[in-house]
Amino acid sequence: MRVTATAEFMLEPILEPNKDAGSSRDAIGLGQAKGDGLDTRHGTILTLEDISVSFDGFKALNNLNLYIGVGELRCIIGPNGAGKTTLMDVITGKTRPSHGKAWFGETLDLSSMSEVQIAQAGIGRKFQKPTVFEALTVFENLELAQKTDKSVWASLRARLSGEQKDGIAQVLETIRLTGSVNRPAGLLSHGQKQFLEIGMLLVQDPQLLLLDEPVAGMTDAETEFTAELFKSLAGKHSLMVVEHDMGFVGAIADHVTVLHQGSVLAEGSLEQVQENERVIEVYLGR
Ligand SMILES: Nc1ncnc2c1ncn2[C@@H]1O[C@H](COP(=O)(O)OP(=O)(O)O)[C@@H](O)[C@H]1O
Ligand SMILES: [Mg+2]
Repeated sequence: MRVTATAEFMLEPILEPNKDAGSSRDAIGLGQAKGDGLDTRHGTILTLEDISVSFDGFKALNNLNLYIGVGELRCIIGPNGAGKTTLMDVITGKTRPSHGKAWFGETLDLSSMSEVQIAQAGIGRKFQKPTVFEALTVFENLELAQKTDKSVWASLRARLSGEQKDGIAQVLETIRLTGSVNRPAGLLSHGQKQFLEIGMLLVQDPQLLLLDEPVAGMTDAETEFTAELFKSLAGKHSLMVVEHDMGFVGAIADHVTVLHQGSVLAEGSLEQVQENERVIEVYLGR
């Protein structure tokens, strides 16, 4: 059993019943507390070992091994159906592996945590389609995302509210939406909605961010800004980015993992994996 006293202390508040459990807000990781005190003493934020996921006998993930370092910006590429989204589903607790180990930091066993607990522990996920609240303003969306577990943090909230406002102001700058703070989110461009949703993750200060095809449907300028944004977030956060746009991958990634048929086919710099014969055959060469 690798659960330490520290992990038990961390888990204590989030084991309380959560009235919102199962709602779509939780599905996108909103309203969760940040995971302070994650044990990453060996420099690894995520450890996946021998992970398999079966759907009616079909192996969407097949003995997958993956290690993400603290502060790393990792890109995951691979053909459609390779298991990229399933991988994110396993990390966030949406799908349970039929086999294998998944650790967040050194001590948190993701396979024993609920989706809500995983989000609270500090893993934030952005889905492909933006899921902002269109009728609410940009500020209100960020404010809502920042609200933490009321039963635990209620006493801290009044005291933190100045700090929380500063946090929102800082995130607005980061995602370049300061000028649109009072606009309804529904009036933003597709790209701006994507940035707002990234902002909604950032106000929770997650240690690990999972982003599924973040630049799909973006203009060239928005894609360029996203690259800049992700590079600036790396170091402070660890990022796992699934993306097909090789120009974008080349602009951001120092380390690329190629997934194929549910397993890691190749790993290395983009240049290294681009030269790999098998990668060319199953993905890049098509
Ligand atoms: N809930 C599910 N039930 C059955 N098969 C699924 C389910 N989710 C994914 N799959 C299958 O698992 C494989 C991997 O899917 P996915 O992780 O979405 O791939 P990717 O994101 O790399 O395109 C695909 O063949 C897909 O059809
Ligand atoms: Mg996918």
